[in-house]
Amino acid sequence: MKIFLDTAEVEEIRQGVAMGVVDGVTTNPTLAARAGRKFKDVVLEIVEICSGPVSAETVGLNADQIVHEGRILAKWAPNIIVKVPLMAEGLKAVKQLASEGIKTNVTLVFSTNQALLAAKAGATFVSPFLGRLDDIGQDGMQMVRETVEVFQTYGFETEVLAASIRHPLHVTQAALAGADIATMPFKVLQQMIKHPLTDRGIDSFLEDWKKVPDAETVFE
Ligand code: E4P
Repeated sequence: MKIFLDTAEVEEIRQGVAMGVVDGVTTNPTLAARAGRKFKDVVLEIVEICSGPVSAETVGLNADQIVHEGRILAKWAPNIIVKVPLMAEGLKAVKQLASEGIKTNVTLVFSTNQALLAAKAGATFVSPFLGRLDDIGQDGMQMVRETVEVFQTYGFETEVLAASIRHPLHVTQAALAGADIATMPFKVLQQMIKHPLTDRGIDSFLEDWKKVPDAETVFE
């Protein structure tokens, strides 16, 4: 399963990519606002750091405007994915952008039916928001499982990008559900690395290493 970082903080992306585990990046208008910098500057920096897919979101509400914004975003770099919200005008725009060879990520997906429509319109990625569904007492992961099954049954090439991930268990469950990608805040990636037994093991190995006769010279 691929791992994307869901952030517009360039430093976080730099760190994640350096670890060798980050395959792409997703951004959204909220994350862009939080970064507090010019959006184009941020995205151009991100695509330099990460050679995988980098989603940048459109904000237009009608298909012509979304297509216009998508064409502009797609020209910034070859690995930019145009993120389009799930709505009728968005689906129209996705179809048009796909016909021009522009890759899209349909976002704000909260049901399997919405995911199906996005795939039919020709989306490259579809983003089920599981955390936000959990927030309102619905089972977000069930939507991910169903979407994976529907896409497999009908041979859609659209990739399932599990989004709105809140904690490491979401990542494990998304992987088990067969999601192609999980996009997560940097904090969740850091939480995935940590285990108290790993930390304790490192401490005790380092303590014992001091007792090895050539401990201080062996790596010289
Ligand atoms: C995905 O592309 C979205 O940017 C993101 O996962 C939203 O997550 P949130 O529900 O934590 O805002």
